[in-house]
Amino acid sequence: MKKIQMVDLVSQYEKIKPAIDSAIMDVLQSAQFINGAEVAGFQKELELYLGVNHVIPCANGTDALQISMMALGLKPGDEVITPSFTYIATTEVIALLGLKPVFVEVNQETFCMDASKLEAAITPRTKAIVPVHLYGQAADMNAIMAIAKKHKLFVIEDNAQAIGSDYHLLDGSLVKTGTIGDIGCTSFFPSKNLGCYGDGGAICTNDDLYSINDLLPGSCSQTKNV
Ligand SMILES: Cc1ncc(COP(=O)(O)O)c(C=O)c1O
Repeated sequence: MKKIQMVDLVSQYEKIKPAIDSAIMDVLQSAQFINGAEVAGFQKELELYLGVNHVIPCANGTDALQISMMALGLKPGDEVITPSFTYIATTEVIALLGLKPVFVEVNQETFCMDASKLEAAITPRTKAIVPVHLYGQAADMNAIMAIAKKHKLFVIEDNAQAIGSDYHLLDGSLVKTGTIGDIGCTSFFPSKNLGCYGDGGAICTNDDLYSINDLLPGSCSQTKNV
């Protein structure tokens, strides 16, 4: 019996080998390894694919979450609501910044945050909600955005496991996950839906306030909870 690997990156590579090899050779020959033309091209393509105003590529999905929380000016002690079931990076970053993770149980059908339990977790110290779109399934963003708007909370979507997923907004429009909240974060870890050869991640936002410079840690201090 032939064993089938869950994530077979070698077979995947072999199918697209000529394109990958020639792209890697182009990078080697240009010697633009960091933030070069290939990254700029990818940034633009991803903006078009996601239908979002700004994509800011970064080192990995964990950094994307950290940079986003720092850019929003979240301060130690601020509470951030997130699902109790996710990859550790979501909560790790909240704790690393001295923020307090407040967990909401997940819906047993989707494994995403149960929006019906969200409002009970909000306190006067709550500053942000970090829903996680898991296994390609979208969190209940219509309900989450309505609650965030009511309580003036930031929404940072952890889209590391769902880039490319479609979501129907209440107005009937179809959008990509990661483009609904204030900021969306994703990971290009090799085994992800859209994996890279190495480590990679990106932040996206429709808010023109968050230019690349604004997303540099500590450079802006937004507040919604006023
Ligand atoms: C839900 C979720 N968030 C964040 C991350 C972190 O991404 P990275 O491994 O690129 O730092 C991952 C990666 O596994 C993830 O699954």
